Amino acid sequence: MGSAMVVLGIETTCDETAAAVVERLGAGPGRILSNVVLSQIAEHAAFGGVVPEIAARAHVEALDLIIAQAMKEAGRSFASLDGIAAAAGPGLIGGVIVGLTTAKAIALVSEKPLIAVNHLEAHALTARLTDGTPFPYCLFLASGGHTQIVAVLGVGNYVRLGTTVDDAIGEAYDKVAKLLGLAYPGGPEVEKQAFDGDATRVTLPRPMLGRPHADFSLSGLKTAVRLEAERRAPLSDADVRDLCAAFQQSVVEVVADRLRAGLKIFRKQHGKPTALVAAGGVAANDAIRKALQQVAFEAGTVLVAPPPELCTDNGAMIAWAGAERLALGLTDTLAALPHARWPLAEVTGPPLPVVADISIIDMLNAGLSKIAPAKDG
Ligand code: KG4
Ligand code: ZN
Repeated sequence: MGSAMVVLGIETTCDETAAAVVERLGAGPGRILSNVVLSQIAEHAAFGGVVPEIAARAHVEALDLIIAQAMKEAGRSFASLDGIAAAAGPGLIGGVIVGLTTAKAIALVSEKPLIAVNHLEAHALTARLTDGTPFPYCLFLASGGHTQIVAVLGVGNYVRLGTTVDDAIGEAYDKVAKLLGLAYPGGPEVEKQAFDGDATRVTLPRPMLGRPHADFSLSGLKTAVRLEAERRAPLSDADVRDLCAAFQQSVVEVVADRLRAGLKIFRKQHGKPTALVAAGGVAANDAIRKALQQVAFEAGTVLVAPPPELCTDNGAMIAWAGAERLALGLTDTLAALPHARWPLAEVTGPPLPVVADISIIDMLNAGLSKIAPAKDG
């Protein structure tokens, strides 16, 4: 537990081919020795979204070089590593197979343990890599495929408090960008446009606002943007900016409201969180980060938001999650399977500690009362 642990992490679940080497000294923060990310934006741009088959082929072509570069920048040999981690899902299955198979080959040849990491768990634990945030904390995980509020109680111990009932926030950003003719990926593009826009010119709904549960709904908001865009067509540059600003304003208010509800549920179920932690690509959004900061402050806690390049997909988060699991002896065999779908709640951690003394005494008492002769017998 106490000794340093150096792990290679491989990420290929979506449209980034990434590898990193990270050192874990204790519960965090960790040390990033290298973090190489190759984005496939150019390959997918013409299609306005990620094309799974193109992504898988691009991962095959790039991964060896990306790993070699990560190892070189870290100044490490495979022999000097303590473990090899790869994202084993959830994600586009072709890419997941490429990353996991490569990790297995390296683990086999270098005789190092393999850690098959859940991509969402890696996002969830990034705050420990960057800030050493102790458990338990309240996680807001928002990416292209996921929007969840999660109680992070320990490694492999995750309780979902809220989720989206339809689109993910990143997905809504990407779809709004597409319908407004903006470049892929949409999140950063919409944020840029919104910056100079007037959010008050268009009135958009705030789905789920004020509900006591902590769930999200984004598809109605996206449809409202489409209807407004159609009504105003042809759109001027100012229209696009204003629609982006109104959309983002609505998202910001909804996120703040849902997190207030989520933090309340967290407190009721798990006590005071050590922090509100933001993770996933959407957490790179400055307006959303500011709103989360305010919500955390109101709830008497702090916001921990990793730097934007560690919010979007990267290898360092996979390496760190691998190191956290390795430190607990949670390694995988070479038979580990790739997953297209793999909910965070299905990730397991170390076995729950059994209060041995009490259970043994209880068992003895139970047994003794059965065999003890009656006093007056
Ligand atoms: O975590 P991530 O890199 O990949 C997934 O696991 O999905 O998240 C990517 C998503 C995309 O939908 C992208 O549009 C969104 O995060 N995103 C943003 C921003 N940067 C990335 N959304 C809003 N504002 C941003 N600045
Ligand atoms: Zn992600």
